[in-house]
Amino acid sequence: MPHRFEDAAKWAKVFDDPARDVWQRPADVVVVLELKPGMTVADLGAGTGYFLPHLSKAVGASGVVLGLDVEADMVRHMGERAASGGLSNVTAKLVAFDDPGLVAASVDRVLIVDTWHHIASREAYSKKLAAGLKPGGFVAVVDFTMETDKGPPKKHRIAPEQVVAELSAGGLSARVVEEPLPDQYVVVGVKK
Ligand SMILES: C[S@@+](CC[C@H](N)C(=O)[O-])C[C@H]1O[C@@H](n2cnc3c(N)ncnc32)[C@H](O)[C@@H]1O
Repeated sequence: MPHRFEDAAKWAKVFDDPARDVWQRPADVVVVLELKPGMTVADLGAGTGYFLPHLSKAVGASGVVLGLDVEADMVRHMGERAASGGLSNVTAKLVAFDDPGLVAASVDRVLIVDTWHHIASREAYSKKLAAGLKPGGFVAVVDFTMETDKGPPKKHRIAPEQVVAELSAGGLSARVVEEPLPDQYVVVGVKK
C-alpha cells in the first residue's frame, strides 16, 4: 500500500515550515533545473506546493508550472495557494499513482522532490516521464541521502545509483549531479 498524504493542512505544517528553507535551499534547486522564461515545468508529487512560488518566478508569465499530485486535498490546497499568491502560471492537477499524465513531448523539466521513493514500478514510470519530456528536457530527482538524519526511515530511501538505473531503464540519460544541498542528492535524467 502506498504511503498517503491526505490532509494538506496537516502536511503544510511540515513541508512549509520556514525552517526547511535552510536545508532545502529552494533557490539552489531552481538553479539545478536551469529554468528559463517561457519553459513548462512539472512538479511531480508537489504536495502543498512548497516549490511552486520558486518555479513560477523562474519561468515567468510566459511559462507554465504544473503542480501534480495523487492526493485530491493537496491539489485543492495548491490551487488555493496559487490563487491567493497570484501565481497565474500555475495549474494544480490530480494524477494517477502510476502515470504523471503528461501530454507527449510537452514539458521542459520535471522536478521530483522526496517523492521518487513513493512511486511503485519506477522503471515503467520513467518511460512515461520520458514520453512527456521535450527532447533535451530533463527530470531532476531530489531525495534524501542514506547518511542524513532528515527524511524518511532509511529502509524507504533509495540510493542515487539506483535512481540513475531506474531513469536509464526508461530511456533517459541519467547521472548524479553536483549541488550544494546538505541532506539530499540530485539525479538528472535527460531525454536525448
Ligand atoms: C514527501 S511529499 C513531498 C512534497 C513536495 N515534493 C515537497 O518537497 O514539499 C510526497 C508527495 O508525493 C505525492 N505522491 C506520492 N506518490 C505519488 C505518485 N505516484 N505520483 C505523484 N505524486 C505522488 C504525495 O501525495 C505527497 O504529496
